[in-house]
Amino acid sequence: MLSDGNAIPLLGLGVWQVPNGPECVNAVRWALELGYRHIDTAQAYGNEEAVGRGLRESGVPRDDVFITTKFFPEHRDPAAEAELSLERLGVDRLDLYIIHWPQGGPTWAWPGMERALDRGLTRSIGVSNFSVDELNAVMAGANVAPVVDQVQFSPFEYRRRLLEACESRGIALEAYSPLGTGRHLSDATVREIARRVNRTPAQVLLRWSVQRNIPVIPKSIHRERIEENLGVFDFSLSSEDMARLDALDRSGGTDRAVESPWW
Ligand SMILES: NC(=O)c1ccc[n+]([C@@H]2O[C@H](COP(=O)([O-])OP(=O)(O)OC[C@H]3O[C@@H](n4cnc5c(N)ncnc54)[C@H](OP(=O)(O)O)[C@@H]3O)[C@@H](O)[C@H]2O)c1
Repeated sequence: MLSDGNAIPLLGLGVWQVPNGPECVNAVRWALELGYRHIDTAQAYGNEEAVGRGLRESGVPRDDVFITTKFFPEHRDPAAEAELSLERLGVDRLDLYIIHWPQGGPTWAWPGMERALDRGLTRSIGVSNFSVDELNAVMAGANVAPVVDQVQFSPFEYRRRLLEACESRGIALEAYSPLGTGRHLSDATVREIARRVNRTPAQVLLRWSVQRNIPVIPKSIHRERIEENLGVFDFSLSSEDMARLDALDRSGGTDRAVESPWW
């Protein structure tokens, strides 16, 4: 549950780097057929049309699905860009609209995000790639506080101080790149735990977030992997295994959201 009362499903499908065509349509359709109810796209991904088409082809009612898109901060007007996203997606309203990264500073785009909320273009608004300082800056001038900060988060990027700061401010931290864009799947500790609990490395990494009640959005374009990644609600990791995974952190428990900004 987000602090504005809207519910966010814990597991979603991410579609970064999936071209705006049949691969994306199929991934979204399969995910929804398999039981996902949350899709994460962005204006910068260029695939909102395919996401909308996958949604329609799945036959799952629009209102049963949580759709996130992200404001591309090289543009100027978040509300105008939200309207264009709605057209591309073919829906009347977003569930979550977030600033993709704090390019040009953390505060300038927020009034436009609030305008998008006021105008009913989205049910919730939030941010992505914001550090604690940037969250504080945006909250200081906000009429409506962000309800989500979507950041790179996994046992290897266990940003403990950022997580604690989000929790104390009523902001849900959402975990992107939970598999390290695939890189964390071959880690020896992750593989050893997976073997022992009779699960896959992806399931172990996703369970690590889900067990903390942290929404997580793995990406795959393969039906069997999309299905595998959903299989994280019928087992739990022991506190010893959680601690071993926690110890993989290479971020130093940072309160920062990114190690080297790309904007
Ligand atoms: N806000 C931001 O700035 C931001 C930044 C990065 C990501 N994100 C969001 O987070 C989502 C996920 O992050 P991500 O795309 O970086 O990657 P990820 O979910 O950490 O990993 C995806 C990679 O792992 C592979 N994979 C997925 N499931 C697998 C499985 N069960 N077994 C083996 N391989 C598997 C995928 O391959 P196949 O696709 O070939 O199966 C792909 O190469 C993105 O799609 C996006 O929605 C947001």
